[in-house]
Amino acid sequence: MPSTPDVKQILLDPPVVNYVAGTLVDMLQDRGYPKQAANRLSQDILRFATSYGLIENYERRTHDYLEDAGFFATRSHPIFHRERTILGYVEPYLSGRILDVGCGSGIIDFILAKQGHDVSMTDVFKHPSIKRPHPEFRPITIEGKIDHPDNTFDTAMALTVLHHSDDPMLTVQEMQRVMTAGGTGLFLESEYGISTENAVMPRRDLQLARFLALSPDQQRGGNAFFDHFYNRVLDYTEHTSEKINVPCNFFTPADLNHLLERNRLVPVHTIHLDFDRDTAPMYHVLHVARKA
Ligand SMILES: C[S@@+](CC[C@H](N)C(=O)[O-])C[C@H]1O[C@@H](n2cnc3c(N)ncnc32)[C@H](O)[C@@H]1O
Repeated sequence: MPSTPDVKQILLDPPVVNYVAGTLVDMLQDRGYPKQAANRLSQDILRFATSYGLIENYERRTHDYLEDAGFFATRSHPIFHRERTILGYVEPYLSGRILDVGCGSGIIDFILAKQGHDVSMTDVFKHPSIKRPHPEFRPITIEGKIDHPDNTFDTAMALTVLHHSDDPMLTVQEMQRVMTAGGTGLFLESEYGISTENAVMPRRDLQLARFLALSPDQQRGGNAFFDHFYNRVLDYTEHTSEKINVPCNFFTPADLNHLLERNRLVPVHTIHLDFDRDTAPMYHVLHVARKA
């Protein structure tokens, strides 16, 4: 059974509730709802999130409620906007043979292949949109291994994947194994433990300011709420095999660099990317590492 966070437990902390409520209102207003309607929807979502018996009931009830409210007919950004943004972050570091670990829908790899990159994909789950002419896809094995030999790829990337992995240590270890010596590892993560000193543009964005006002544990709670909300409520499916795993294995920037080092990957850059307002409202950091 795929993992989920304890949403009710997360929402026992008033500052986290305020953060979630305010961020939901912003997200709904971004989708075109007037302030009053956005406030009402946000309050109803919070009510569902704090009063469920089984979490599955909260997911389905909130998804259906948003569908009735016309949420899925709204689109704040053109298709592929998120993927093109992410590509812009990682493109300067891509070279040679590329492996995308946790490729999801494979849209990023499809774009990269069209640009002439040599790219392969892997994931624990084959997304239904992956079909030819996408690049080659091999599933992660039942033991959590990448199905490629040692020293195969010049670049291995995991884009918003590690916090979805049940065993991030094993995922990084496997990435390191299939990388060539001197190869590049790219890890784009939603992180917590972010302070005003290292955040990008701390005062210009109200949503980011709200996040930065939380303690590290509260930031992790906010990430868990929205990671679950986007992957399991908005993208609700009744098919268990298609439910995305949400174990919420979030890192601070320092903890992730430490994990990389323990796997003989040398952190070269830790790039604060800002709050991702377009998709899931979480703070993103890109870690660039070299295999020694
Ligand atoms: C938020 S999606 C990101 C998809 C894609 N990287 C992107 O940015 O569009 C997280 C992906 O990680 C995958 N995943 C979860 N655990 C994994 C693991 N242990 N190894 C590889 N992929 C995993 C999920 O199946 C899902 O497709």
